[in-house]
Amino acid sequence: MKKSVILAAALALVACSQGVTPVIPEDKAIEDKVEKVLKGMTLQEKAGQIVQINISMLLGADGELDQAKLDKVIGEYKIGSILNVQGDRAHSREETAAMVRRIQEKSMEAIGIPCLYGLDMIHGATYLTDGTFYPQEINIAATFNREYARQMGRTMAYETRAAQVPWVFSPVMDLGRDPRWPRQWESYGEDPFLQAEMAREETLAIQGDDPNNVDLEHCAVSIKHFMGYGVPVSGKDRTPAIIAQNDLREKFFAPFLECFRAGALTAMVNSASINGIPTHANEKVLTQWVKKDLGWDGMYVTDWADIDNLFVRDHVAADKKEAVALGINAGIDMIMDPYDVKCCDVLIECVNEGLIPMSRIDDAVRRILRTKARLGLFENPVWEHEYPEFGSLQYVFESYQAALESEVLLKNEGILPLKGTEKILVCGPNANSMRSLNGGWSYTWQGSADDFAQDYDTIFEALFDRFPGKVSWVPGVAYDNRFYQWEKDIAINIPQAVSAARKADVVICCVGENSYCETPGNTDDLNLSANQKELVKAVAATGKPVILVLNEGRPRIIDDIEPLAKAVVDVMLPSNCGGDALAALLSGDENFSGRLPFTYPKHTAALHTYDYKVSEHRETMAGSYNYDAVMDVQWPFGHGLSYTQFAYSDLTVSADSFTAADVLKISVKVTNAGSRAGKEAVLLYSSDLVASLIPDVKRLRGFEKIALEAGESKVVEFEVPAKALAFVGADGRWRLEEGDFRIACGGLGQIVTCTQTKVWETPNI
Ligand code: BGC
Repeated sequence: MKKSVILAAALALVACSQGVTPVIPEDKAIEDKVEKVLKGMTLQEKAGQIVQINISMLLGADGELDQAKLDKVIGEYKIGSILNVQGDRAHSREETAAMVRRIQEKSMEAIGIPCLYGLDMIHGATYLTDGTFYPQEINIAATFNREYARQMGRTMAYETRAAQVPWVFSPVMDLGRDPRWPRQWESYGEDPFLQAEMAREETLAIQGDDPNNVDLEHCAVSIKHFMGYGVPVSGKDRTPAIIAQNDLREKFFAPFLECFRAGALTAMVNSASINGIPTHANEKVLTQWVKKDLGWDGMYVTDWADIDNLFVRDHVAADKKEAVALGINAGIDMIMDPYDVKCCDVLIECVNEGLIPMSRIDDAVRRILRTKARLGLFENPVWEHEYPEFGSLQYVFESYQAALESEVLLKNEGILPLKGTEKILVCGPNANSMRSLNGGWSYTWQGSADDFAQDYDTIFEALFDRFPGKVSWVPGVAYDNRFYQWEKDIAINIPQAVSAARKADVVICCVGENSYCETPGNTDDLNLSANQKELVKAVAATGKPVILVLNEGRPRIIDDIEPLAKAVVDVMLPSNCGGDALAALLSGDENFSGRLPFTYPKHTAALHTYDYKVSEHRETMAGSYNYDAVMDVQWPFGHGLSYTQFAYSDLTVSADSFTAADVLKISVKVTNAGSRAGKEAVLLYSSDLVASLIPDVKRLRGFEKIALEAGESKVVEFEVPAKALAFVGADGRWRLEEGDFRIACGGLGQIVTCTQTKVWETPNI
C-alpha cells in the first residue's frame, strides 16, 4: 500500500465536518480536561490508550490478577482499556468489583489515566452471577413494548456500575433478517423501525439523560455492530455481505442513526465486510457518514481482533502494520487486540514511519479520553455508591413480565388454555434446561445457565408447580451439552416418551435449539433436528394432542410437523423467568400478547422478510410462460394470537393529501371483542404504491402496546412525519415521491396522496 494514499485519506478524515451541529453537544469542561491530559502524553501512552486487551492477559495460572502481568500490560505498555470476564465465566458483583478496583489502582499509579473496563452485558447484567437477566433482545422486540427495552437498559447499567464497570457492549442492533445467521436472537428482529425504537430506548436507559455526564448508576453503550453485519451472503457469521447502497442507508444505517442522535457514546464495528470492503477499513461509513456528517465525537472500538483480520482473513493488508494503519486511518479509535500488547509497538512504528499522521492518533486518543471523562472516571476511577436495588425482586418481576409479553402463540386449535385437569407429559430436549431458555451470552459466552440459574424454573419445573400432581417428564431427546456441540442431540428414550404420552391427556413437546453464540452457532441446515422431528411425530402418532413449544434463537423449519400440533408457542429465548411465564400463559392465568419480530420461514430455500419487494410476489401470468413468484412463509412478521379477539375500526388519517413537511395524524379504534382481558400490539404500516424504485410491499411505521379489559375500546393515535415515508433512491438521496400511499392497521386501510415530490440534498433527514 502506498504511504501517500494512506496519508491523503487520513488527512481528509481528521477534522470533524464544519457546520454540522454535533449529535452530542460539546461540553467545555470536558474538552478542557481532555486537552490538558492529551498535552502531557507521550506517544507510548497514546498507543496504550488506543489498544484494548483481554483480561486473560492479566491473570496468573491461578486465574487471579498477577502483579507481574499488571506491571507489564499497564505499567510498561500503558494499556488503557480491558474487556471480558475472568476465566471466561461470570463472577459476582463483589468479585468483579474487586478485580476492577485493582486494575484502576494500577492504571492511576502507572499512567494517571483511568482504565475503561468493558463487558458484554447483553440481556441484563448477564456477566454477573448475581445480576438480573431479562429476556434476550429478540424477545423484547416481540413484546412490541418499549417499556421493557427501557427496563432492561436501566437495570443492566445500574447493576454493571455496581460492579465498578462503566461500559457495556450493548445494545445489539444488527437487523436480524436472515435466520441462517447465528446472531439473529441478539437483535431486535428484522425490521429497521422496530430495531431503531427499541435500541434507542435501551441506549437512553443505559446512559441516562446526559451523555456528557453519565452518573454512577449509568454506563456508556457500545452500539453494535456498526453496520450491515446481520446479512452475510453465505448466512455464516463474519463472512461478506452484499448490500445495495440505498438499502444500506435506508434500512441498515437507520437504527444506528437513531442511537447516534440519542447520544450513543461508543460504537463497535461490524466484524465482516460490505460489498468487498471490511467495515474496519471503511472510511466512508465510519468517518464520513458518522464522524463528519453527524459531527459524532464518540469513539469506535473494533470487534475482537478485527484489525488482524484485515490481513489474516480479508487480505486487504499485507501485514499488521498495514492493517493498523488502514483501520486507524479509516476512523477506528480503539483496537480490541485481545492478546497482543505489541499492537502498541506497531502503532508507534506506524506514526514514526508516517503511515498514520499524529493528528489522527490525537483525534482517536481525544475520543477515548472524552469517553472516560464523560463517564466521570477521572474524578472517580473507582467509586463508593449504594446500589440498594441490585438484584431486586422488582427487577426479576420486570423480567417475568417481559417474558410473559414476549412468548408468541402462533397456533391454537382450541386446546389452549389448558383446563388444569389434564394429565400432562412434558418432553423434548428443551423441557428441563435453563441453558436453552437463556441462550448465549448468559453467564458464559456460549451460555451456561444450567450451572448458575438453579434457583429459577425450567419449563418442566414451572409446569410441575403450576399443575400439582398432573405433570410428568420424559425427555425423549437430549442435547449433547459439551462446549461447541450445541447442535448435537441424541434420541435417548423416545419409546418411553411415547408410552408416557399414551397415559397422558396432552403432550407439551419442548423443542428447538441449545444455546450458542456467534460463529460457533453457524448451521448448515435450518430444519429442526431430525431427532426432534422424530420425537414430535412419535408422540403425535399416539393421537394425544400435542402442544409444540419452540425454544430457539432463530426460527427452525417445522413445516412437516406443524400440522401435527394442536397449538404452537414460540418462546424464543425468554431467560430465567421464561419457564414460569410459559406455565402461566398455558394455564390461562395470563394471556398471550407477543408477536413475531421476524418472518418465520416455511422452507429452507425461501427465506423472506416482511418488507419484500412487490415484484417478489406475483400471480401466474396469462399465456404459456409461468413467471409467478410466491411468498410462502410459516407465519408472517407481526403474527401472534391471544385468548381474546381484538376488533379494529374507524381508521382515520388527518388529511387525504400531504407534502414532505406534514405530519400525518392517524388514529384507529381497537376493541377487545372477546370475553377476557388482553394486551394488543397495534402495528401501523404504510405502502408506497408506485415509486421510481420497486417499492417494498409494506413498512412498519408505528407500534403501541395497549391493555384492554373485555369489551373495552381504546383509540390509538400515531404521528408519522411524512418524511418517514421517504426512501433512498438509486443515487443515494432520500426522496418522497408524488403519488398514493396506503396506510394500514389491523386489516383496515386508507389511501392518502403525496402531492409534491421532494428530494433531500442532506444525507440524513
Ligand atoms: C463479538 C462482540 C463482543 C466482543 C467482545 C466479539 O466476538 O462479536 O459482540 O462484544 O466479541 O466480547
